Parts: sequence; structure tokens; C-alpha cells
Amino acid sequence: MGEIRFLLNGLPVTLTDPQPTMTLLDWLREERNLCGTKEGCNEGDCGACTVTLTSLEGDHLAHRAVNACILFMPQLHGRAVRTVEGIASPEGALHPVQQAMIDHHGSQCGFCTPGIVMSLYTAHRDGRQDHDDVLAGNLCRCTGYAPILRAAEAAASEPRPQWELNEAEALVALDITEDTILNGAFIPSSLDSFASWYAEHSDATLVGGATDVGLWVTKSLRELPQTAFLHRLAELQRIETTEAGTTIGAGVSIARLRGWAAGFYPDLAELLRRYGSVQVRNAATIGGNIANGSPIGDAPPALIALGATLTLRRGESRREMPLEDFFVAYGKQDRQPGEFVESIFVPENAQNLRCHKLSKRFDQDISAVCGCFNITVVEDTITAARVAFGGMAATPRRANAVETALVGQPFTEATITAALPAFAEDFTPLSDMRASADYRLQCARNMLRRTFLEISAGTQTRLARRGAA
Ligand SMILES: Cc1cc2nc3c(=O)[nH]c(=O)nc-3n(C[C@H](O)[C@H](O)[C@H](O)COP(=O)(O)OP(=O)(O)OC[C@H]3O[C@@H](n4cnc5c(N)ncnc54)[C@H](O)[C@@H]3O)c2cc1C
Ligand code: FES
Ligand code: FES
Repeated sequence: MGEIRFLLNGLPVTLTDPQPTMTLLDWLREERNLCGTKEGCNEGDCGACTVTLTSLEGDHLAHRAVNACILFMPQLHGRAVRTVEGIASPEGALHPVQQAMIDHHGSQCGFCTPGIVMSLYTAHRDGRQDHDDVLAGNLCRCTGYAPILRAAEAAASEPRPQWELNEAEALVALDITEDTILNGAFIPSSLDSFASWYAEHSDATLVGGATDVGLWVTKSLRELPQTAFLHRLAELQRIETTEAGTTIGAGVSIARLRGWAAGFYPDLAELLRRYGSVQVRNAATIGGNIANGSPIGDAPPALIALGATLTLRRGESRREMPLEDFFVAYGKQDRQPGEFVESIFVPENAQNLRCHKLSKRFDQDISAVCGCFNITVVEDTITAARVAFGGMAATPRRANAVETALVGQPFTEATITAALPAFAEDFTPLSDMRASADYRLQCARNMLRRTFLEISAGTQTRLARRGAA
């Protein structure tokens, strides 16, 4: 028998052997009768189930809006969760974001409202004012966003209420230092013990942020007899930069990766702003985004263009490979049983990284095509080019023929035009509901042209400039 310990609305909770794939949303509604957290889509898309997850990171607290519908109970172990029922004062005074939603008529049917309130509450705790981004993962079908944004702006000028608790001491008091073994789940606290456990339990499903695995359960109704939850592994959370480059642990969330990228590669940061929503980016990990092998994952093309290498580990042994070599074929990666993604290393070599994501919607949409370009120009000559795409093949893939057509040539429009036919050598894309094959090829060519125009004008995309601001 094992147990998980966490805080719910400030109070400690201990659960003995919870069902490892029970979602927080189901537990709140069915076991605790906390029905303010709503179920809309049950797949991370609508934000009706948004709650705040708080973790102790070093000596500070990190507050994150996440979707409870794709968060498994073991992911709460050692963390604090706050729901819409837990943000008013003990005497019942409304939190400033709740009051502002009333004052500015931010709610009609009210189904989305608790999720919107929790997104705004989390942003308010952190002093965030990028309300468009904060709310991109919260769908409202009837009020319209203008009153909600007015409420967000009004609440932002109000101070944090005095009754808001700092959960740091209570989180420390949970006193979780050991590995935890539940019935059907392992929650390691040390990377070494996880590595040796996984080498012997290679059938287990690893859970990073559960933004994929969650849907296997809620939508595909899959049973996961053995799971391992990686969120307590501090070694997988590191981002370390040296002169040679940056090592990023597999457990680093897309939100943190975006924060890192903002300082080095504004275009990558902007690409990641369009990755899912705040809630998805807060949960999803870079390890999961790579390990799932999706041909339309957004981070791999950018990392391949940057020349990233992957470290895989099994037990005590490690091996490294260029990231592009990890993706063997559709649904097939170069990963042995018991081997896991430990980290990604990004060399400091890109002067001109440009990333372009094409999707039907700006926010919260999977790429139809994602093109990333790392082109080095020295004295008007292209001396190196790494070009990588998602959505153009069965895996994220480099455009070798395009690269060959560019390298050694003058950095001119004529070179770019001459390189365009090479896309058809590199890729034979599919037609599907996101885009036709011809459209994909045309867009990929346009992305190269756009990259040329941006680099030669010394600008970034309008969006990257805005995202970096
Ligand atoms: C609403 C929504 C929007 C999304 N939008 C986007 C988007 O815009 N762009 C995009 O690229 N993706 C998007 N995704 C997909 C998803 O967020 C990513 O694939 C995500 O990065 C997966 O990471 P995770 O940590 O949640 O993985 P999990 O779901 O925990 O795991 C995914 C897979 O990776 C394995 N795994 C996890 N960690 C490791 C590890 N360290 N070593 C080996 N295997 C591991 C798991 O076993 C599983 O097979 C979206 C998902 C949702 C639900
Ligand atoms: S119910 Fe829609 S995101 Fe959770
Ligand atoms: S108020 Fe009805 S969905 Fe937002």
C-alpha cells in the first residue's frame, strides 16, 4: 500500500492507493463534491476544468493553471491544488477576479466561468497581465471575450487579497523525500532509482505532463496497468547553460522552455506561445513532446534546426544522438525497452533561428506545417543551414536537399528561388483535414522565402517581436 499527499484548497489530504489514472476532475466532482470545476471537453481543449497547481521549486512557489481533466491523481503528490471553491476569503468575500467578473458582466450561462476565474486567479497571483494569452485556453461560447478581458484588466489593478495563503510551509510539511509505490504506479523521487526501476519495468507507461497520456485514458479509454510519474524528479527539471550550450531536462515544461527561449531565440519563444494553451504548456514536458514521436509536435523541428542532441538513458548507461536520428518512422523511435529521454542539449550556434507555425487557428491548434530555419550567413554567403519541418512527413525531418541548395551560395533572393524546387525532393506530404499536400509544399516554400526576407531586413516576424515584448 502506498499513499499520496497533497494540499487541497490549503488543507492536507492523504489518499491511500488512489486509482493511478483517476483524473483530478473526476476526483473533485465525484469524491469531494467540488463541482465548481466543470467538465467540458475532457481533453484539455476548453479550460472549463482549470485549477491552480502549486509546487515548491527550490525556495519559491510556482503557481500554474492546469486542466484537471487530464491530470492524474498521482501528479498531485507533493503539490498543492486550488479550485474555484478555494479562492474566496474564509468569511466569503470574493476574490478580486470573481468580483471583477461580476462587475464587468463576464458571465452568462456560467459554464466556462469557474475555469476563466481560475486562469485569471493564477495570473493575478503571479502579476501576469498578458490576458489574451492567459485566456487562450478558456473557451467561452456565449459571453464574448470583451467583458472578460475588461474584468481581467480591472482585477489586475487590485492587490492580492490578504487571505491568500502562502503554501510553502505546508508543502514542506508534506515531507515527501522517498520514492512512492502505489498499486499500479511508481512516483520516484530520485532519478537513479527511477532509471533502475524502469530498466526492470519497461512495460510501464511513463507520465510526464499527461497531455497525451491523459487523452489515452479519457478519450481512448485505455487501461494503463503500470505507470511511472516523473514530476518529482528534480534532475529532469534542470535548465543549465554553459558556453557550449544549454542542457534541458526531459521534465522541463513547455512553459519553462518558452521562458528560456525568450532570452536566446525569440522566434522559438513565439512558436511556443502558440503551443496549446497556458494550461497545456504548464503541464506538457519537452521529454513527452519528443518521446511521443508525433510528426506534428512543435518543439522537435526547432530543436533539430538548432542542432540539438538527445540523451537517452537505460539504467546506468546513456547514449547520445542527434535529435533527428531519434525519429525513425511514423510511430517508431530509436528507444530501447527501459530507456527514457533524460535530457536535450542545444548548442549555442544559431544566429538566425526563424520558426513558422501554420495552423487553422492562432491559439490552441496543432500545426499543419511547422518550419524552422537556422541559416548562418557570413559576408553575404550562406555558410551553414539546418532546416527542419513538422507536418511534412511521417516524422519531424530535416530538409537535406534544401540545405544543400543553400549552403555555399550567396544569400540572395535568386538563391532562395533556386532552392524552392528542392522541397519536392525532401518531402512528399500527405493531404489530410489540416491541409492538402500541395498547400503544405507551397507553405513550406513560402516559409523559406519569408525567412530570407526577415533575415535580410534584420527583423523578426511581427509576432516574435510582439511575443518578445
Ligand atoms: C489541448 C492540447 C493542445 C496541444 N497542443 C499542442 C501543440 O500546439 N503543439 C504540440 O507539439 N503538441 C500539442 N499537444 C500535444 C502534447 O502537449 C505534447 O505532445 C506534449 O509535449 C506531451 O508531453 P507530456 O509531458 O504531456 O507527455 P505525456 O502525455 O506525459 O507523455 C507522452 C508520451 O511520451 C512518453 N514520455 C513522457 N516523458 C518521457 C521521457 N522522459 N522519456 C521517455 N518517454 C517519455 C510517455 O510515456 C508517452 O508515450 C497538445 C495537447 C493537448 C491536450
Ligand atoms: S474539460 Fe475541457 S479542458 Fe478539461
Ligand atoms: S458564459 Fe457561457 S460559455 Fe462562457
